[in-house]
Amino acid sequence: MRTTITKCLFPAAGYGTRFLPATKAIPKEMLPVLTKPLLQYGVEEAIEAGLHTMAIVTGRGKRAIEDHFDISYELEHQIKGTAKEEYLTQIRNVINGCTFSYTRQIEMKGLGHAILTGETLIGEEPFAVILADDLCDNAERGVLSQMVELYKEYKCCIVAVEEIPKEDTNKYGVIAGEPFNDNLVRVYNMVEKPEPKDAPSNLAIIGRYILTPEIFDVLRETKPGKGGEIQITDALLQLAKEGQVLAYKFKGRRFDCGSVDGFVEATNYFYGKSGK
Ligand code: G1P
Repeated sequence: MRTTITKCLFPAAGYGTRFLPATKAIPKEMLPVLTKPLLQYGVEEAIEAGLHTMAIVTGRGKRAIEDHFDISYELEHQIKGTAKEEYLTQIRNVINGCTFSYTRQIEMKGLGHAILTGETLIGEEPFAVILADDLCDNAERGVLSQMVELYKEYKCCIVAVEEIPKEDTNKYGVIAGEPFNDNLVRVYNMVEKPEPKDAPSNLAIIGRYILTPEIFDVLRETKPGKGGEIQITDALLQLAKEGQVLAYKFKGRRFDCGSVDGFVEATNYFYGKSGK
């Protein structure tokens, strides 16, 4: 079994109902912040973390994702030798820098089910998961890169967490644990989207995970939980009970681009950063 992380899984089969009608024919992962689709930000974060094999779990109506990470010969031909060519430099580097493989989630049965669907692309090795609608940014080092570094030391599952207002706990997986060191918590409880009164803390899981391949066997046995869906939070709780899950208070900013407010915030932030 390989012990280094080389693959990043992107669950991208959801409907994106909060962005209708924009997401009627366009996958939500393809919505752009400035000129770049959310998923490309995620892929670039994975590349920065040293991962070069992208495994994408798609669904019906997601063809645009595959086309984005492919060469468009007609477009290349049209703009070759013109000033516009530079607009393609970044995506060309992404396409040249890694490989993409895809599998489809036939039924929408939750994030845990989407990750289990990706097993065929991942196999028996530790891997990263990025939920592209959580857009992260950090000046020195990306969030996934920070986590991959921690994995090298601790060799267990790691979830990224951040403090959230208590009234928002019902939007996230929420953890409880004991301090391990400055930024790490040894997780002993995790609950998917608890009401504030039932939340074990205000530390919420955001869309960055490092998972060990044992998770697939656990997911196979995991019963539908919150919302009748198979939840990765419930599966991770099983491993947490064996002391195999750390929560990491990452360095950087995270935008919830699954909500209109977060999306606008991210757009303004990246626009400010672009110096335009
Ligand atoms: C998923 C997870 C949740 C996590 C969140 C992070 O929820 O189920 O535990 O906190 O991602 O964005 P979703 O946002 O897909 O409903």
